[in-house]
Amino acid sequence: MTAKVIDGKAFAAGIRAKVATHVARLKAENGLTPGLAVVLVGEDPASQVYVRSKGKQTVEAGMNSFEHKLDATVSESDLLALVAQLNADPAVHGILVQLPLPKHLNSDLVINAIDPAKDVDGFHISNVGLLGTGQKSMVPCTPLGSLMMLRDHLGSLSGMNAVVIGRSNIVGKPMAQLLLGDSCTVTIAHSRTKNIEAIVRQADIVVAAVGRPEMVTGDWIKPGATVIDVGINRIERDGKNVLVGDCDYDSCAAVAGAITPVPGGVGPMTIACLLANTLTACCRANGLAEPEGLTA
Ligand code: GUN
Repeated sequence: MTAKVIDGKAFAAGIRAKVATHVARLKAENGLTPGLAVVLVGEDPASQVYVRSKGKQTVEAGMNSFEHKLDATVSESDLLALVAQLNADPAVHGILVQLPLPKHLNSDLVINAIDPAKDVDGFHISNVGLLGTGQKSMVPCTPLGSLMMLRDHLGSLSGMNAVVIGRSNIVGKPMAQLLLGDSCTVTIAHSRTKNIEAIVRQADIVVAAVGRPEMVTGDWIKPGATVIDVGINRIERDGKNVLVGDCDYDSCAAVAGAITPVPGGVGPMTIACLLANTLTACCRANGLAEPEGLTA
């Protein structure tokens, strides 16, 4: 079997177009423009690229983008003061503090200072608890994008065996909660899991988010399974710097029913879902109906 390639770039463009349509309607009918504030501390090159891309796509969707760039030496109290100012600003519906933060800053403290209703990353402990108990929450963007692609490809996920590889707070754990919410039988495997190949081979759905280049190979995959590769790893190959996922693409694609490529799979969905979450936050803040198909 040769897997169907799930085109995350096209899917993300569709989500962004849907968001832009809703934003235009909010403006015309309610005089509202959703606003996203992104806080970047320091000059990490990868973070700068992400933040620039987020700002550009926010504006393209018709929303307001507020960028706050702080020096790497900023004090925790100054950063918390900025978060408090953004919490109080009615033009700001979503707040994202770009991670990782410099070591002298306590990320948990800063994230938990964000108003949960504006926490478009879904990282605040209140949102984590709401998701874990099946209540309405802000859902982390990468797992949300992965879920959207799975639902689009498979329809109902009910009763399927899903294996999530990786247990991070940002992807693995919320992904497992979302799959459970869609009535999958969920296993979380990780770097210490024994017999991981045999466990993954049981899966109708594999979500690889472990951060190890090409760890999952085709012999781990059940024929016809759907493989979502969340990994983005930069490696040297034949003297070139290349991006690869957590799955060995060629061998997995030869066995799977469908697979997301790297790049062009899950990656583009993350910012699209950030825009969707900002729109959702704006609608909730104003007591308006939420757009359909853009939340979990
Ligand atoms: N750094 C890399 N990805 C992300 C993300 O999705 N959210 C935040 N806040 N920081 C990140």
